[in-house]
Amino acid sequence: MTAFAIEADNIHVRFGDYWALTEVSFAIPDGAFVAVLGPNGAGKSTLLKTCLGLIRPQSGLMRLYDRPLAEFDASRMGYVPQIKTLDRSFPALAIELAASGVLSAWPWHIQGALRRQAMEALEQVGADHLASRPLARLSGGELQRVYLARALIRRPPLVLLDEPATGIDPAGERDMFRVLERYQETEKATIMMITHDWHTAVHHATHILAINRRLIGCGESSPAFAEEMLREAFGHIGHEHPHREANA
Ligand SMILES: Nc1ncnc2c1ncn2[C@@H]1O[C@H](COP(=O)(O)OP(=O)(O)O)[C@@H](O)[C@H]1O
Ligand SMILES: [Mg+2]
Repeated sequence: MTAFAIEADNIHVRFGDYWALTEVSFAIPDGAFVAVLGPNGAGKSTLLKTCLGLIRPQSGLMRLYDRPLAEFDASRMGYVPQIKTLDRSFPALAIELAASGVLSAWPWHIQGALRRQAMEALEQVGADHLASRPLARLSGGELQRVYLARALIRRPPLVLLDEPATGIDPAGERDMFRVLERYQETEKATIMMITHDWHTAVHHATHILAINRRLIGCGESSPAFAEEMLREAFGHIGHEHPHREANA
């Protein structure tokens, strides 16, 4: 077993002439549940996508389980993207969305082993009853569960979630955490989750990582540390991060 699931060494990410991330370094122990905190535009999604290899940093190194990111098998990462952009009119069923976590093409008319695998993934997140429901008829919380099933279908040791609790009611959020915690326990997985929620950071996470274009801090979660990180991450937003609506 390696000591660190994710190591970021001096990561810089630029979009045009805008530096979204500068000098970001941290190390996430294997088996940690990390809450990523920071204001809007802080580069949280950018950081997650850099960990996933979807964004290549201008400089710096990302290592996963002691290997350069490029050598890491992408199928061993599960990803729940920030969802707001999903077009609900996309004519697909829940089971197809779950199964799309295994294939590179859209899995219309899934049968046999893939159907069983997708059903198991849906069962694992308590969403098997939704399998043949069109995406258009899922609530926010139900859709989020199906995305979670999609992320977990290959039983990845590393799961990255981008604001998965946004738009879910408190009961749905509690269910989601139960699923995640059970998954983490049985698979000994490492989980990195972007959230705005102090409660999540303190009660579910073992570690807190705060950024605002630069690293603010990364350490073991405690109420005092969470409070300090939130204050520092959000305290500077007005003057340190003028939002670039014009180029966004
Ligand atoms: N593909 C992109 N091209 C240009 N700018 C981007 C791109 N992705 C993100 N940005 C900008 O980088 C900054 C950080 O974005 P993001 O990582 O989405 O922040 P967060 O998730 O913390 O809200 C924002 O100012 C955003 O507009
Ligand atoms: Mg984001």
